[in-house]
Amino acid sequence: MAKFHVIIPAAGSGSRMHSEIPKQYLPLLSRPLITWCLDVFYANTKIDYVHLALHPQDEVWSHQLSNNPKLNVLRTGGDTRAQTVLNTLEEIDADENDWVLVHDAARPGLTDALLSKLLDALQDDIVGGLLAIPLADTLKRADASQRVEKTESREDLWQAQTPQMFQYGLLKRALIKAQANHQQPTDEAQAIEFLGLSPKLVAGELRNLKITYPQDLLLAEAILAVDMNKHSEHQS
Ligand code: CTP
Ligand code: MG
Repeated sequence: MAKFHVIIPAAGSGSRMHSEIPKQYLPLLSRPLITWCLDVFYANTKIDYVHLALHPQDEVWSHQLSNNPKLNVLRTGGDTRAQTVLNTLEEIDADENDWVLVHDAARPGLTDALLSKLLDALQDDIVGGLLAIPLADTLKRADASQRVEKTESREDLWQAQTPQMFQYGLLKRALIKAQANHQQPTDEAQAIEFLGLSPKLVAGELRNLKITYPQDLLLAEAILAVDMNKHSEHQS
């Protein structure tokens, strides 16, 4: 039976966050940001392994942060996210048809419901796919002086999220080929698209936002605080 591997690229510098420590370690409701998504993967019984891809010089990670039998900590960080993922694929022990779910360390709002929806939608798919949300706002293209050049149609446009889920053999081939062709895929799906394949879009939710700027942290805190209140009301 095919296994389910999660890869969490966590080797970025978080430059847009302007923080002293990498953003995945910033406190989010009193525990490190990265632990929120790790706990979702630990709790889902379909997930067999969680491979965490750290920067080779990462000095903040400690097993005390979130230890678990599923966790495999690797120092496979590369210069780009795609390189980090490819280095990790080359390091892990997986079969060609095992599933790999790549999830940004900086997306703490993933829920078990969203993860299960992705797994259910894709585990029999021949290409694989990703969580994404249909674009809600009107889209403007800017000119060099930051004035509107034109309004673009948002029809059929989606914003990509993670996890992005593909079979091990296919994803590795796609990333190796992109590298050989000097292409710079910004997510796994784009590397698959370069092969002429069409990943499936599975409707995600806004709460699965990526923490990029300082204000995103406040939004994620508000969302997760509502969850925690609901949880404690349920228990009392
Ligand atoms: N990432 C990685 N290796 C890289 C670059 C990014 O593993 N060379 C990871 C980040 O740690 C993050 C995810 O990819 O979990 C998404 O990237 P992004 O949000 O862009 O994070 P950073 O690159 O760290 O942030 P910035 O672009 O602001 O520097
Ligand atoms: Mg980046």
